[in-house]
Amino acid sequence: MKISVIGTGYVGLVSGVGLAHHGHKVICVDIDEEKVNKINDSEPPIYEEGLEEMLEEVVSDGKLSATTDTLQSILDSEVTFICVGTPSKRDGSVDTSAVENAAKDISQALKEKDDYHVVCVKSTVTPGTTEGKVLPILEKSGKRVGDDFGLGMNPEFLREGVALNDFLDPDRIVIGGWDEKSRNKLEKIHEDFGAPKIMTDLRTAEMIKYASNALLATKISYANEISKICEKKGIDVYEVMDGVGLDHRINRDFLNAGCGFGGSCFPKDVKALRALAKEVGVTTRILDAVLSVNDEQPLHTIELLKEELGELKGKKIAVLGLTFKGGTDDVRETRALPMIEKLLKEGAEVVGYDPKGMENFSELIDEVEFDKGIKDALDSAEACIIQNDWSEFRSLESEDFDGMKNKVVVDARRILDPKDLSEEITYIGIGKGPVD
Ligand code: UDX
Repeated sequence: MKISVIGTGYVGLVSGVGLAHHGHKVICVDIDEEKVNKINDSEPPIYEEGLEEMLEEVVSDGKLSATTDTLQSILDSEVTFICVGTPSKRDGSVDTSAVENAAKDISQALKEKDDYHVVCVKSTVTPGTTEGKVLPILEKSGKRVGDDFGLGMNPEFLREGVALNDFLDPDRIVIGGWDEKSRNKLEKIHEDFGAPKIMTDLRTAEMIKYASNALLATKISYANEISKICEKKGIDVYEVMDGVGLDHRINRDFLNAGCGFGGSCFPKDVKALRALAKEVGVTTRILDAVLSVNDEQPLHTIELLKEELGELKGKKIAVLGLTFKGGTDDVRETRALPMIEKLLKEGAEVVGYDPKGMENFSELIDEVEFDKGIKDALDSAEACIIQNDWSEFRSLESEDFDGMKNKVVVDARRILDPKDLSEEITYIGIGKGPVD
C-alpha cells in the first residue's frame, strides 16, 4: 500500500521504515529539509538501534523516500499517518497545534483528491481529539468523512532506544476508526503483523495509549514508594519486586525503583490525562501521587547522599548519566536535572558525564562542568551518583573509583552489585537500606 507519514521523529521515521520493511511504499514528510535530505541519503537524523541498517535497506529498495512536499505525498498515497509531536502546555494539557497543522495540509490535498484516502493519527492525543479537532479540519476540504475519506487513530507504544524493535514486534496493535471501512484499511496495512489487534473507535484508541503509559508510570512510582519503606527496614526492594513480579497478574517489568521516570512520554502523558480529568471534573488522586512521587525521588536520592556525606557545600559530586535513560541522547524530563539543581542549591560543585547527552544537557543548565570521561568526572570527587543505565556505567569496577577523594557511590538505577565492589567503596543503592 502507498503510505505517507507526516513527521520524521522517532515515531514517524521508525514507523515509516518499519512499514517499508513490511513491503509498503512509504513517503516520509517533514518541514525540515535537512532531515529530509539525510533520510534520502539513508542517514537517520535520530539514533535508534537498527534504524540505520533498515533505512539503508528500504531506501535502496526504493520502498522509502522523504520529501517536504506534503501535498504531493498525499496525492501519491492512499493512507497518511500523522506522527508529529504533541508536547505539554504549561498547564500540562496537550499542545495539538502540530497535529492540527498537519491536518490542515492534508485537508488542502484532499480538495484535489478524488479517490478514497485514510487519515490516521499516530501522535499521542487525548480522547476526543481526533474526532473533535482533526475531523473538522479535514472536512474543510469539502470532502465528507466516510464517503470521501477515512479517519483512524493508531497509537504507538515505542520505547526510545528500542523503538524499531517495539514497532516490528508489538505486544498489540490498536486500531481506532471512524467507521468499519477506515478500520479495515488500517488492519490491511498491519495484516502480516502477528500481534493481536484491537479494533475499536477513535476515542477508545486514544485512551488505551494514555491509560497504558499512566499505568506504567504508576508501577514505577509504586516501586519507588515501596523502596523508601524498604530503605528504612533493611530490605532490598529489588528482591521484593522479584517476588511480586512473579505474579502473572502483576509482571516484573516497570517495577525497578530508581530516581524516577523521565522521557518525552510518561511525564507528559500523565499530566495530559490529569488535565483532561480536571476538564471533565474528575479528581485524580492516583495520577497526582504518581507525579509527586516522581518529583520527589531525585531529591530523595540527594537526601540519601547527605545521610552519608553530611553537608555538600564545596564538595565535588560527579553525576554519571544525564539523559533520561541509557541508550539515547534525549534529556527531556531527565531526573538528572532536578537532582543537579538540588546539589547546586546545597552548594556542591557538580561535574557531569554522559556518553551521548552532555551537549543536550548543557542547554538545560550552565553551572555544571562536563567531563570528557568517567575517570575525569570521578577524579577527586567526594561522591558520585549513577543516574542512568548506560552500559558504560553497568560495567564499572572498583578500580574505576580509585581517583575519588571519598569513595561514596549512590546507585540511583541499581545497576551495580555491591558484592562485586571492594570494601573501600561505600555503596548506597536506592531501595536497599542498611540492615537495621
Ligand atoms: C515509554 C513507554 O515505555 C513507551 O511504551 C511509550 O510509547 C513511550 O514512553 P520511553 O519513555 O522511551 O518509553 O522509555 P522507558 O524505557 O519506558 O523509560 C521511561 C523512564 O522510566 C526512564 O527514565 C526509565 O529510567 C524509567 N524507568 C523505567 C524506571 O524508573 N523504572 C522502570 O522499571 C522502568
